[in-house]
Amino acid sequence: MKQYSTSPDGEKFQLPGPDDYVKEYERLDHIVQKQRKLGREIVVVMGVGFVGAVMAAVVADVEDKNGNPTKYVIGMQRPSTRSYWKIPLLNRGLPPVEAEDPEVAPMIHRCVNDKKSLIATFTYDALKFADVVVVDVQCDYLKESLGDVRNGQTDMNALEKSLEIIAEHINPDTLVLIETTVAPGTTEQVAYPIMRKVFRRRGIEKDPLLAHSFERVMPGKHYVASIRDFWRVCSGINDEATQRVVKFLEEVINTEEYPLTVLDRPIESETAKIVENSFRATILAFLDEWSLFAERNGVDLIKVLEAIRVRPTHSNIIFPGPGIGGYCLPKDGGLGVWAYRHIHGFEDDIFKITPLAIDINDTRALHVAQLARDALRNMGRPVAAAEILLLGASYREDVGDTRYSGSELIVRRLTEMGAELRVHDPYVQHWREIEKQAEYPSPEYSLKRFFRSQDKLSELRVEKDLKQALSGTDAVIFAVRHKHYLNLDPDSVVEMAGGSLAIIDCFGILDDKKIKRYFELGCEVKGLGRGHVKRIKDQVRAEREEMLLALSAKHDDTF
Ligand SMILES: NC(=O)c1ccc[n+]([C@@H]2O[C@H](COP(=O)([O-])OP(=O)(O)OC[C@H]3O[C@@H](n4cnc5c(N)ncnc54)[C@H](O)[C@@H]3O)[C@@H](O)[C@H]2O)c1
Repeated sequence: MKQYSTSPDGEKFQLPGPDDYVKEYERLDHIVQKQRKLGREIVVVMGVGFVGAVMAAVVADVEDKNGNPTKYVIGMQRPSTRSYWKIPLLNRGLPPVEAEDPEVAPMIHRCVNDKKSLIATFTYDALKFADVVVVDVQCDYLKESLGDVRNGQTDMNALEKSLEIIAEHINPDTLVLIETTVAPGTTEQVAYPIMRKVFRRRGIEKDPLLAHSFERVMPGKHYVASIRDFWRVCSGINDEATQRVVKFLEEVINTEEYPLTVLDRPIESETAKIVENSFRATILAFLDEWSLFAERNGVDLIKVLEAIRVRPTHSNIIFPGPGIGGYCLPKDGGLGVWAYRHIHGFEDDIFKITPLAIDINDTRALHVAQLARDALRNMGRPVAAAEILLLGASYREDVGDTRYSGSELIVRRLTEMGAELRVHDPYVQHWREIEKQAEYPSPEYSLKRFFRSQDKLSELRVEKDLKQALSGTDAVIFAVRHKHYLNLDPDSVVEMAGGSLAIIDCFGILDDKKIKRYFELGCEVKGLGRGHVKRIKDQVRAEREEMLLALSAKHDDTF
């Protein structure tokens, strides 16, 4: 039976059959021979997802002083129904990922169509031609409960399978650079034995040339720069692997301005990534309790943080918003905690802060549903009969990446409580985790399973017209600091909604002037960490009473 893979735009691509593999091998063989004659190194990037697709283009874009490409890059992607479409798209010179960075699309177009230094393929045979293989497949951490990261496990299936396949195909002198974020210990304790075993089976005595260097890529306007023009850490499993990885990264990354850090062992490079992200997750999580403290004691945490931030030692203190999403921060600490027991065999429990931070971040968004419930109640509208508009589906401002966003939990909890949800996001075309909740983030791992009455959410579509989205709504939740929402004027919001409504500010989006105006317009306002709104409400009420008194005095004078 013919199988198809459908791109986000709805274009269907038939998955390759046995004959296609034969033709594809011949095509690659022909291209590679030509490229070798031009003196170009062949780099295969395995996994052309969010990171791999752009890393492949960064490598393909490298040129010598005469402007000629020095590398020929083959992006390799397994032909699954979920991902195959990325290959034909890339081969047309189109990015297979939605990127806000204006550099991504022209760079991929340039490398595929002008420089002709980048192609994509579905056949593992590409690995036979590689001088360097860059591994950018995913390594997930699957959580079995909501808010308990310890109850979960690392899913290394894709990575382990990839490493086995690589070892079956490559030349023993090929450098294999793992860029995937892995559980610390993976390169030496998982990848090395897998590859060595296959090498021995193939009669190869040499050890695989394995190295690790993690990505620090940041979705957003500087996506390419966050790969190419940024500091890297790396390490190889032996001297030869270390020399090779240093040479490769010096050729493709801007190491002159952003020097490399070379660590002794791959476990140190792997640990650096996990500690880096656990640190970030922790400093965000710790503000959750202060956010509740602020709400209950008339404190505006936004202003408190601004006051603290002027101290140079505390300049990176940031407000957490409705949960901490993205692909990395919710999972990376889990990879570390898991590795301690399952890779290194320790039985004791040394981790306290890292799992707690992730658990706090993973559930923080649920409080937003409580704020919406309370604001609606204060207006005499039950949440179960309310129409609620969520502004922002992505996990951070001005990007379209929705992976593990706090917004998803808000939508799920409020839906469970009976509300009708709408969502607006200028950057998101399709909210995969909601629209295709049976498949994303992976089959059986949708957050849907922790809530009831979620089926109808598959029908939810991201609205593009703000006016239409607001019309007739009972509440609006400012969930993400997209630039489109920062300057929304209360009078026009209320006008577009067709009357007063509940306003929930999750990210310090509203200043005091706007909060006051919303109250004057008969709205109810609540916000994460924004205990001072009650003071503003009392002030508006007092001013209104004063005005009414003055009016009635005038009225008494008249009659
Ligand atoms: N996205 C980010 O912002 C970010 C930032 C820093 C680090 N990272 C890390 O980079 C790594 C990759 O992340 P991503 O966001 O690109 O993931 P992704 O899921 O978008 O991409 C992974 C790709 O690998 C492909 N793949 C899986 N098995 C394969 C196989 N056997 N052969 C060929 N292809 C295969 C998948 O189909 C997919 O396209 C992860 O370890 C992640 O933690 C990601």
